Amino acid sequence: NGPETAALVAGGVVNVADFPKPGIQFKDLTPLFADGETFHAVIDSIVEHYTDADGTLAFDTVVGVEARGFVIAAAVAYAARVGVVAVRKAGKLPRVAHSAAYDLEYGQAVLEVSEGAFVAGQRVLVVDDVLATGGTAEATLDLVERAGGVVVGFTVLMELAFLEGRKRLPGRSVHALWTV
Ligand code: PRP
Repeated sequence: NGPETAALVAGGVVNVADFPKPGIQFKDLTPLFADGETFHAVIDSIVEHYTDADGTLAFDTVVGVEARGFVIAAAVAYAARVGVVAVRKAGKLPRVAHSAAYDLEYGQAVLEVSEGAFVAGQRVLVVDDVLATGGTAEATLDLVERAGGVVVGFTVLMELAFLEGRKRLPGRSVHALWTV
């Protein structure tokens, strides 16, 4: 964590103008995911952030948000030896327990969580690649709690602070490896 991790993330992001719509600056994390040492270090820094001095983890399971969040969530879960839960876009899950509509930086969407995703009271770490307007995160944290999980943190590799996504997450523990 700290400046070294921020620099690693920064070095793995390519800014793509006008994708998927004119005026949107898309943050492409493909280079970060494609570099094994960088990916490993970034994932380890997330796990370390939620591990105390005795080696005790603060979470019992990890949630990843479709689709780029899946890459991070699965790796964090594996490194921490916990399970992983996918929060998916509408129409993908065969057993939907809860749905949440939300506004995206570039459109609208619905997220869903499966029946049986969490044991009641399970401590959940939610991860994603980017925090932009916060709509995705707000909907996801809401879904996790409606499904019986207890959100202990929300981690992103990159936060676009100028979009003020944190304002939609009052009282939440938000952890960004790199903030611009
Ligand atoms: C992107 C990104 C976050 C979300 C952030 O996902 O991966 O999930 O947008 O934006 P917000 O803070 O404004 O809600 P996208 O919906 O593009 O899906 P993808 O990962 O499937 O490409």
